[in-house]
Amino acid sequence: MRGILLAGGSGTRLRPLTSVCSKQLLPVYDKPLFYYPLSVLMLAGMREILIIGDDKNIDGFRELLGDGSRLGLDLRYAVQEEPRGIAEALIIGRDFAGDEDVCLILGDNICYGQGLPATLSRAAANVDGCTVFGYPVADPERYGVATVAEDGTLLGIEEKPSHPKSNIAVIGLYMYSNDALAYAEKITPSDRGELEITDVNRLLLAEGRGSLVQLGRGTAWLDAGTQDSLLEASQYVQVLQKRQGLQIACLEETAFNMGYIGKEQLAGLAQELSTGSAYDRYVRSLVPA
Ligand code: TTP
Repeated sequence: MRGILLAGGSGTRLRPLTSVCSKQLLPVYDKPLFYYPLSVLMLAGMREILIIGDDKNIDGFRELLGDGSRLGLDLRYAVQEEPRGIAEALIIGRDFAGDEDVCLILGDNICYGQGLPATLSRAAANVDGCTVFGYPVADPERYGVATVAEDGTLLGIEEKPSHPKSNIAVIGLYMYSNDALAYAEKITPSDRGELEITDVNRLLLAEGRGSLVQLGRGTAWLDAGTQDSLLEASQYVQVLQKRQGLQIACLEETAFNMGYIGKEQLAGLAQELSTGSAYDRYVRSLVPA
């Protein structure tokens, strides 16, 4: 399975913050927002990852991470000319995917919690059509909402319903089997002019090829698309990191723990870093004696 991280969009709700800088490059506490979804893809076992950004900002991502080889990754970059909708990521990423299945994550979604890597890698091994991930929320009418049968089977997805049939929001993380990528070509723009990922998922569901994996209480899901949610995400990361002395979404640590880089490579990375920031000091502290 290959990963696609979608990091374009308009970021209208965060202006003027996003007037000169992409939302996904903004800080969440001590690191850029997109590090969090990138680490989720890495934890789910993906090393080949396409980062899609807009023309103005794509070089910012590239400057931070390059070809990814220092993290044992193969990172590629692509431009989405206009924010034509999330489903366009599947069209832009079609060649990159080759014959492989795809995991698409939105660059402003933060998922964190025990058992998440195992849940994701289990799901990744078993995709037919689409697999979406559900998370219980207090305000489902703001999200795509899953309609679920009593046995947990996914029956449908409603976009921002005024009378939601469940409290299960569909989060910004989706898995597709390779043949399902072509379904993104079959849809047309919605009333708001976007290629909606929910429309792709509905087509697959109509063929009985959609499933839902519910993320439990032990997982946090945050998105950072508004001033308040961006601040709350920073506070969440700050509280946990300070309390535990462990970093969330430290890419060097994730790469080392996943075996993408070895001890020597980690030591090399640490040496390149100064001790000027807490992030850099943390990476240096990871090198085994
Ligand atoms: P949204 O939050 O729906 O849109 P946005 O980021 O443009 O923000 P706003 O609503 O404030 O204008 O997008 C969800 C994620 O998907 C976000 O990470 C941006 C990304 N995205 C793209 O990269 N391209 C797109 O065409 C769209 C619609 C979203």
